[in-house]
Amino acid sequence: MNDPLEPYYKTLDEMKQKGLYTPVRVLESPQGPWFTIDGKKVLNFCSNNYLGLAQDKRLVSAVIKAVKKYGVGPGAVRPISGNLKLHMEAEAALAKFKGAEAAFLLQGGFIGNIVAIQTILGKEDIVISDELNHASIIDAIRLAQIKNKFIYKHLDMTDLERVLNEAKKIQGNHLMLIVTDGVFSMDGDIAPMPDIVRLAKKYGAITMVDDAHGEGVLGQGRGIAHHFKLHGKIDIEVGTLSKAFGVLGGVIAGKKELIEYYRQKGRPYLFSTGLTVADTAAVIEGVKILSRSKSLVKKLWDNAKYLRESFQKLGFNTGSTQTPITPVMLGDENLAKTFSSKLFEHKVFATPIKYPMVPLGKARIRVMPSAGHSKKDLDFGLKIFEKVGKELGVI
Ligand SMILES: Cc1ncc(COP(=O)(O)O)c(C=O)c1O
Repeated sequence: MNDPLEPYYKTLDEMKQKGLYTPVRVLESPQGPWFTIDGKKVLNFCSNNYLGLAQDKRLVSAVIKAVKKYGVGPGAVRPISGNLKLHMEAEAALAKFKGAEAAFLLQGGFIGNIVAIQTILGKEDIVISDELNHASIIDAIRLAQIKNKFIYKHLDMTDLERVLNEAKKIQGNHLMLIVTDGVFSMDGDIAPMPDIVRLAKKYGAITMVDDAHGEGVLGQGRGIAHHFKLHGKIDIEVGTLSKAFGVLGGVIAGKKELIEYYRQKGRPYLFSTGLTVADTAAVIEGVKILSRSKSLVKKLWDNAKYLRESFQKLGFNTGSTQTPITPVMLGDENLAKTFSSKLFEHKVFATPIKYPMVPLGKARIRVMPSAGHSKKDLDFGLKIFEKVGKELGVI
């Protein structure tokens, strides 16, 4: 009898032929500015460890101390018997740091988006979404089974207003949500939140931002609301602790009553165990470090500026980025794959970003500087990019 799963295996072969198959490298050392892969020390040019906190000794010490006190796991979902004092401390610290009334700690940014959307929107409600929003927002909308979905052109406020006019016609007494990434993860551009908030007010909508790449990066690390001085004006702020904060986790910040509602009704909170002791203790320490000093965030932005300007001087196209996310645009999927392999031969690790992460034909290498990189590290990476770029006729 034929294996009913055979078509999937064939798809794998096709993906390999088209350069769409993603083999995953294995790290053999901490997630620092350099790390070891296949026994080889390579420059880490593509992690989301923006501030170097993933291997910061202060976080490691805080984690060891907490694990000695609390053990490793919470043992149950938080509403039953797994709600640690540490979880509450982390939530209070995050709310204070971000200038929000309250914060809700979850198991990841992906889950944060699901809780934020699915818990308050249903079939008859309306969602208005930027065309380049992250997959986790798209999946959250699907999970909520929202029928009335409107997409506006990327960052285009004229198009958003056109869509709001359309949506308004069917709104009745239903909830209307405008949702956007804060920093777009593949391009590094920033959503114009002041305009989005203004339009939302005009048309009776609420606003949500996924600040995964703004958390720890924008607004002196406090996120996009701080960056635009919009404290209390964005209804739902979702963030991740899995990038700049160096661990694993998600956070929703907003009004006390909204967070309380999520706590009572959010399914991934009610039916899935909360963060581990290690992740939670590390978040508390990370917030402490960023509250005390701006130096890590400053170093990240200085490195980002230097890297972007140097790529541009070399003749690479870095797209429309406004943040440390530095895409080196290549277009063709196989070119991106070959480019990345050649970088690796010369000890630079930067994975190709291709479909389905970006549209077909828009493949790129997304370079991510961190506060942990020295100027010498960046110059090394740039030298290799120049060499490979010339070899492959990109510059
Ligand atoms: C924009 C955006 N939102 C959400 C997520 C998911 O965050 P997490 O890894 O914490 O689940 C990511 C991570 O890739 C992201 O880039």
